[in-house]
Amino acid sequence: MEAVKEHRSTKSGVSSDEAIIEIKGLKKSFGSKEVLRNINLTVTKGENIVVLGKSGQGKSVTIQCIVGMLTPDAGSVKVFGKEVSELNDEELKDLRTHIGFLFQSGALFDSMTVRENLEFPLTRVLKLKDQNEIDQRVNEILEGVGLPEAAEKMPSDLSGGMRKRIGLARTLIVKPEIMLYDEPTTGLDPITSREISQLILEMQKKYKTTSIIITHDMECARITADRVVVMNDGEYIAEGSFDDLQHSDNQFVKSYFSDSI
Ligand SMILES: Nc1ncnc2c1ncn2[C@@H]1O[C@H](COP(=O)(O)OP(=O)(O)OP(=O)(O)O)[C@@H](O)[C@H]1O
Ligand SMILES: [Mg+2]
Repeated sequence: MEAVKEHRSTKSGVSSDEAIIEIKGLKKSFGSKEVLRNINLTVTKGENIVVLGKSGQGKSVTIQCIVGMLTPDAGSVKVFGKEVSELNDEELKDLRTHIGFLFQSGALFDSMTVRENLEFPLTRVLKLKDQNEIDQRVNEILEGVGLPEAAEKMPSDLSGGMRKRIGLARTLIVKPEIMLYDEPTTGLDPITSREISQLILEMQKKYKTTSIIITHDMECARITADRVVVMNDGEYIAEGSFDDLQHSDNQFVKSYFSDSI
């Protein structure tokens, strides 16, 4: 590991030592395939961590361990100070209401309007009943992602970038304390990608969320990261700010950043 900074400041202005996610010595294999060999990461409140790494390295597997979809073979994964693998079904369900997970596809319900898509987590997850409150939150989040005019549209009427925004809105509408973004800009053109990256940053500022952002998009990493970790062979081999890592002496890290300088 290199360039570990003592003081952590964030783009959101929130600066705290409170560990929201703490991963120590995490190992995970599938059959004889050792995917995660030794993952160590502490994410403090309000921080945006970007995870870089080649395909098939186990970036998504790590996220699945955080939300309890996969159980580690060894090591510790604590979220809000609690060991995830020790939570019962009820506690796990409760934990997940505090975590927003942006899937690559956006995963909107195609038969529902944008408004209905956004109401769904409010009525199903938060069990809200007051229609005024529901309307207010839907309108606020649509403003937040810059698409107030999209409320009555169907997902099929939206562009890929707009769908991504609505997917983000649907995740953020429950005001999760943790956001996990798995390749949020994949498949988007550079301009829309930049808009989504800026939106992730705005959401961090507005809602003070703690986020892990997995991406292959260096522009997205540059815009959103307070701290970047680089994954290789089942471990994080470097950690630091985007600027620090851009000037790293490590050949592997260098090769990652060489196109973006
Ligand atoms: N549930 C599973 N069962 C068996 N193998 C799995 C499972 N989930 C992931 N793997 C394997 O673990 C490895 C890491 O997968 P993962 O999806 O985490 O990679 P990644 O770093 O997210 O890659 P990408 O950048 O392509 O998304 C892959 O070899 C994958 O086939
Ligand atoms: Mg992945």
